Amino acid sequence: MLRINDIRVGYGVVEALHGVSLRVDEGSICALIGANGAGKTTLLRTVSGLLRPTSGTVELEGEDITRRRPDTIVSKGICHVPEGRHVFPDLTVSENLDMGAYLRRDRGGIEESRSMAYDLFPRLAERAKQYAGTLSGGEQQMLAMARALMGQPRLLLLDEPSLGLAPNLVHTIFGTIAQVNKETGVTILLVEQNANMALLTADHGCVLETGRIVLSDDAENLRTDEDVKRAYLGG
Ligand SMILES: Nc1ncnc2c1ncn2[C@@H]1O[C@H](COP(=O)(O)OP(=O)(O)OP(=O)(O)O)[C@@H](O)[C@H]1O
Ligand SMILES: [Mg+2]
Repeated sequence: MLRINDIRVGYGVVEALHGVSLRVDEGSICALIGANGAGKTTLLRTVSGLLRPTSGTVELEGEDITRRRPDTIVSKGICHVPEGRHVFPDLTVSENLDMGAYLRRDRGGIEESRSMAYDLFPRLAERAKQYAGTLSGGEQQMLAMARALMGQPRLLLLDEPSLGLAPNLVHTIFGTIAQVNKETGVTILLVEQNANMALLTADHGCVLETGRIVLSDDAENLRTDEDVKRAYLGG
């Protein structure tokens, strides 16, 4: 589904990604883990066209999308849920979902997606008419994901979906990510500090260390790897 080939990305003269390659198989969940500043967000922003690599390519189903504009990339089915919760605070939950479907013209299909989003996130259904700005942090995170699904993406890029959430909500969010993947078949590239939960949820995992991929393996193999445990799983 997604293939990243040896990309170098910098901010000004400072290079943040020093030749990163990665592939994400169709229908799978890939977890990208790594410490603060490793370059995880930079990688997602490059895939969604917000940053241009100085060299290397990004391919979606074999098509080179490296130099495409962000809106073109969205229309090709890649949806990026950025770090931090970016919902429209002065719109209701339901109106936020409408915004996620802005490229679609199929009224019936949009309503089906809305029902599906409410099935996946019952809390949002209860709060359909509530202003998004008054939702709790966890609810806003759910709304950001639900809104992304309204665009029927083929590839979902999630940047730190569990950031700042209480432990019980972290479980809920990862459970929902797995459910979304299973029920809609959407391919997911997941960036996370919470390495243990991310690797439990994912099929494949990659470790990014200061701009380089240092490990790439089945998620379960990484989760039980002694070096990974020591560096990223707290023992
Ligand atoms: N706009 C920017 N201008 C200059 N340097 C930047 C900019 N954004 C990020 N960087 C630098 O690029 C490197 C990678 O940052 P990035 O945000 O990709 O890390 P990250 O892995 O997402 O970290 P975190 O886990 O803290 O979110 C860091 O050294 C960071 O300081
Ligand atoms: Mg980040």
